[in-house]
Amino acid sequence: MTGTSQVRVENLVVERGGKRVIHDVSFSVTAGKVTTLLGANGAGKSSTVMAMAGVLPRGGSVSLDGAKLDGFAPDRIRRAGLALVPEGHRVLGQLSVEDNILVAALDPSASGRKQGLERAYEIFPELAERRRQSASDLSGGQKQMVAMAQAFVAKPRFMIVDELSLGLAPAVVKRLAEALKIAAAGGIGVLLIEQFANLALDLADQALVLERGRLVFDGSAATLKAQPDILHGAYLAN
Ligand SMILES: Nc1ncnc2c1ncn2[C@@H]1O[C@H](COP(=O)(O)OP(=O)(O)OP(=O)(O)O)[C@@H](O)[C@H]1O
Ligand SMILES: [Mg+2]
Repeated sequence: MTGTSQVRVENLVVERGGKRVIHDVSFSVTAGKVTTLLGANGAGKSSTVMAMAGVLPRGGSVSLDGAKLDGFAPDRIRRAGLALVPEGHRVLGQLSVEDNILVAALDPSASGRKQGLERAYEIFPELAERRRQSASDLSGGQKQMVAMAQAFVAKPRFMIVDELSLGLAPAVVKRLAEALKIAAAGGIGVLLIEQFANLALDLADQALVLERGRLVFDGSAATLKAQPDILHGAYLAN
């Protein structure tokens, strides 16, 4: 250990529907940096992060600063500091914006809830303006903000975002990307899945590329940008 906080994934194996979809994948996500996980549709990005978050069963090991998270339920993994924003920015439509955020707070005390909301609203002031509004009335981009605020409220050390921009307008995507940059600058380790590779590589420090469930690149985002054939190969493979 160099003293830098890390999530380490080692020899990850995932099976879905009786078929192996992730084959022996190992990588690290470092605090204070954005790491992007790229790959074609079906390459195994969501399976990887769902397995890391304990939502899917897996083989191999996931650890946070050397402490193994193996066998932990999703809630315990979140409490350990690893928060997943799942694909699809789903919210509880019958609840207000604020209640949507609060259901994800880990500290149920009045002061814990207050601090959690402050953290969430600091990153997304536009949600504070809409705190009493029903979440079902929000735009897609605002729903994604709520989904991300549900991660921020838990004061994560690491945050995984599965499909940041899916179906959203460019202006709001810019806002969401900015929030991730702020999070990383504040010390959170971000693992970003994003269908637009250029956007992801502009945001990211580090990059990972999956091809049919295997890791084919692990290095700096700048290196990957300079080697577009790796990305093209991965996107054509699936
Ligand atoms: N619920 C499921 N049951 C069985 N197999 C699944 C299921 N979901 C995904 N798979 C398979 O697992 C593999 C990896 O899929 P995964 O959703 O992890 O890829 P992805 O990279 O996130 O793709 P996308 O870009 O479409 O979100 C694919 O072969 C897919 O068909
Ligand atoms: Mg996916």
